[in-house]
Amino acid sequence: NPRSMRPQLGDTFAYLSGEYKDKKVMAADLKVGEPPRLVYPVDPVTETVRSGSRVNQILLIRTEPSHLAAATAPRAAEGIVAYSAICTHNGCPITLLNEDGRSVVCTCHGSRFDLADNGTVLTGPATRRLAALPIAVTDGVVTVAGPFVGTLGAAPSQQ
Ligand code: FES
Repeated sequence: NPRSMRPQLGDTFAYLSGEYKDKKVMAADLKVGEPPRLVYPVDPVTETVRSGSRVNQILLIRTEPSHLAAATAPRAAEGIVAYSAICTHNGCPITLLNEDGRSVVCTCHGSRFDLADNGTVLTGPATRRLAALPIAVTDGVVTVAGPFVGTLGAAPSQQ
């Protein structure tokens, strides 16, 4: 089922909700210092939004390229990074940019993840990093450049 497939090479992204729901994500939409945008991957040929699986929720955010660590820089494009938006603690969507500008916070129980360094856990209760998604920017459009790196979803052993 293409709606439930994981992000595929060359997929574009569509906003998951809000004013721009289903609109294609352009690199120019994303500004440093703005909160993460929640998006779904989209098959660019059929325009099927891959919203059939909740773990396809992805956060896109533009960071300062000079902050990116060795693991993350090759997966980023123009400072834009992508991670699974599903908190590895208990599965809440991650929506908040921390005031340091380089980490995101899950508002359910406060776990914090490093955007610039592989989605590493900076503050618990989560214990597992966010899965990273390599991206590219092609003609101004944000696209998928490879499969998720890391484990998706909430840790089954945690409550
Ligand atoms: Fe994110 Fe608990 S679900 S910190």
